[in-house]
Amino acid sequence: MLACRGLTKHYATDRGPVTAVRGVDLDIGSGDYAAIVGRSGSGKSSLMSMIGGLSRPSAGTVRIAGTDLWGLSEAKAAAFRSTHVGFVFQFASLLPNLRALDNVALPARLAGTMSRRASEERAAQLLADMGLDSHAEAFPFELSSGEQRRVAIARALMNEPGLLLADEPTSDLDEQTEREVMALLRDINRARGTTLVLVTHNLTLAAEAGRIIHIADGAVVA
Ligand SMILES: Nc1ncnc2c1ncn2[C@@H]1O[C@H](COP(=O)(O)OP(=O)(O)OP(=O)(O)O)[C@@H](O)[C@H]1O
Ligand SMILES: [Mg+2]
Repeated sequence: MLACRGLTKHYATDRGPVTAVRGVDLDIGSGDYAAIVGRSGSGKSSLMSMIGGLSRPSAGTVRIAGTDLWGLSEAKAAAFRSTHVGFVFQFASLLPNLRALDNVALPARLAGTMSRRASEERAAQLLADMGLDSHAEAFPFELSSGEQRRVAIARALMNEPGLLLADEPTSDLDEQTEREVMALLRDINRARGTTLVLVTHNLTLAAEAGRIIHIADGAVVA
């Protein structure tokens, strides 16, 4: 499902170039659940951004379901990403002026894959799956952090991606809500067969994954 080769990221800064990811080779099978762990600053988010098509690698390749993501034109990459990859970010990323339902439906509207009515029905179903049926009409500021996170997960699932990337989706939540959000992600992985790659600082949660990938100083360590 996912194959990275020689994946590398340098950032230009005032203090000179910073290498955040150095030559990562990684294979994750279809339907797998992999947890990525490592210290703050080790390059986890930089790696996830390149896998998710959000930040261009300085070197190396990302293949998702056989497609060379960074070999696509910008327009093709955007279309591919929107239908194959769901991304839940480290920080809440809902559009503040859209209600929960419209935030969730947005990926389908952008991809133009469904009628407005069909997208609203699917968004409502996803919100119900997340236990948020009564909050469909709420704006993000009217929701708690955990509720916002669940809306973001529902949005990431809108276009039924084969690959779900989650970068510390529970970092700022209380323990109970963290467990609930994690259980949701695990259910999605099991019930829908969605490949799940999760960055977490919580080693107890990481231990529930089929596989743990340790990152240190931008590289995969055994
Ligand atoms: N846009 C950027 N410009 C310059 N340097 C950056 C940028 N983004 C990240 N870095 C640097 O790259 C390194 C890796 O950062 P990254 O955000 O990938 O780490 P992380 O493992 O996700 O950390 P955390 O656990 O704190 O989220 C760090 O040294 C960071 O300072
Ligand atoms: Mg990070």
